[in-house]
Amino acid sequence: MRRARRAGEGGGFLREVRLNPEASTGRYPYTLPVVRALARSEGLALDAGVTFLVGDNGTGKSTLVEALAVACGFNAEGGSQNFRFATRASESSLGDSLLLTWSERKPRTGFFLRAESYYNVATEIERLDKEGGRPLLPSYGGVSPHERSHGESFIDLVTHRFGPHGLYLLDEPEAALSVRGCMAVLARLAELAGQGSQIVVATHSPILLALPGATIYGISDEGAIERTDYDGALPVRLTRDFLAAPERYLRHLLDEA
Ligand SMILES: Nc1ncnc2c1ncn2[C@@H]1O[C@H](COP(=O)(O)OP(=O)(O)O)[C@@H](O)[C@H]1O
Ligand SMILES: [Mg+2]
Repeated sequence: MRRARRAGEGGGFLREVRLNPEASTGRYPYTLPVVRALARSEGLALDAGVTFLVGDNGTGKSTLVEALAVACGFNAEGGSQNFRFATRASESSLGDSLLLTWSERKPRTGFFLRAESYYNVATEIERLDKEGGRPLLPSYGGVSPHERSHGESFIDLVTHRFGPHGLYLLDEPEAALSVRGCMAVLARLAELAGQGSQIVVATHSPILLALPGATIYGISDEGAIERTDYDGALPVRLTRDFLAAPERYLRHLLDEA
């Protein structure tokens, strides 16, 4: 099986993320356990190919990915570096406090995908195309994301818009995807990593996490960020256990309800 690039094999644009230790404000997002852990740490090393962030709901994955996107110059609600729209200011100021270590390689292209606000990106693509200039839609597969299912539009995006030597930040790309869709995206991400792209993904998908050669960081409820392997990753362990004996879980879950 072809392996995604590994850190240290050359390639990669972003090497490391640290938090400016003087940045803390005593308010969200600086009070989040994961942000405090990042402030105490020597930094998070990113894989030259694919880095996954896993952890329960509310551990701060989206906050981190969004801050990384903002620090890299992407629009906080998603899109490429050319998108500048905002439907609401929900982004934290964390992006301004991140210290990024870049390699000498520069990404040729990039995209920040937020599952929860891709609808707004689609609206912006349509708006920009109405304004004239070089049409954007062809590079998204030719059909407006509004005229595709949510999952189809994601697959269009990673198939057509994403390409070699790009920097891609994805927040829960599986949100709209079927199991088969996740497998298709896994294959495409592996291909992109093999073509010199660097990808950071917050995910709950045990399928995406199977991407060979990727680095996986688990964020605990206490905010600790620890490297883990596929079998140790929370979504993989829990899904495996559940599928092995759903009735055991259901007894608990339904009794509690
Ligand atoms: N704009 C905000 N203001 C205050 N707290 C927030 C805001 N956005 C998120 N949070 C809190 O930060 C925590 C982490 O959120 P998030 O990064 O979205 O988690 P995850 O993506 O890991 O599920 C959550 O507990 C959430 O309630
Ligand atoms: Mg999230």
